[in-house]
Amino acid sequence: MATNITFHQGSVTTTERNELLKQKGITIWLTGLSASGKSTIACALEQHLLHLHKFAYRLDGDNIRFGLNKDLGFDEKSRNENIRRIGEVAKLFSDASAITITAFISPYIADRAVARELHEKANIPFIEVYVDAPLSVVEERDPKGLYKKARAGEIKDFTGVSAPYEAPEKPEIHIRTDQTSVIDAVQQITEYLSSNGYLD
Ligand SMILES: Nc1ncnc2c1ncn2[C@@H]1O[C@H](COP(=O)(O)OP(=O)(O)O)[C@@H](O)[C@H]1O
Ligand SMILES: [Mg+2]
Repeated sequence: MATNITFHQGSVTTTERNELLKQKGITIWLTGLSASGKSTIACALEQHLLHLHKFAYRLDGDNIRFGLNKDLGFDEKSRNENIRRIGEVAKLFSDASAITITAFISPYIADRAVARELHEKANIPFIEVYVDAPLSVVEERDPKGLYKKARAGEIKDFTGVSAPYEAPEKPEIHIRTDQTSVIDAVQQITEYLSSNGYLD
């Protein structure tokens, strides 16, 4: 029989889990136009935190829109549901002590407020990061040719062209990616995390 097993009756609270794993779960919620740099910054930040031996995990298009949310489109109702589910999943990861980084346009203030409230109710920090670049800049970048297609009417409900983007009013962090390098963006987020004790 195995020895040295530690077993405590009752469930482990989020605080206890954080203490045992020596990491605080938090959600870093990136929002911004398509091609503003969310995925690029999220990848770089995830790598940086993993190299600091932090349990960081990114929720992004590929592992959400092709899986969990593959039944959803881009009309307003589907976008609401997309973000609602992502908010729930982010909360679960953060409750499991991960530094969870989400990289979705999440264009509606109300949807982001729902995600924030969900976290606040669970006592999990929610850090909204506005990944900001002017429409003219992101349209010029157009790494996937999506703006071109949207302008040609080939994609409907495209954020910034034929669907709204509601910018955050009071984000915890505001990054102007037309003026800030990816490395500096990661630095800006990391400094915020350190100064708030989230990397202790
Ligand atoms: N400072 C910057 N921060 C982030 N991305 C940048 C920056 N400058 C240029 N880019 C480029 O902009 C594009 C952003 O694409 P991506 O990260 O996929 O955006 P999103 O996930 O917001 O749609 C990439 O091609 C990236 O190389
Ligand atoms: Mg992306």
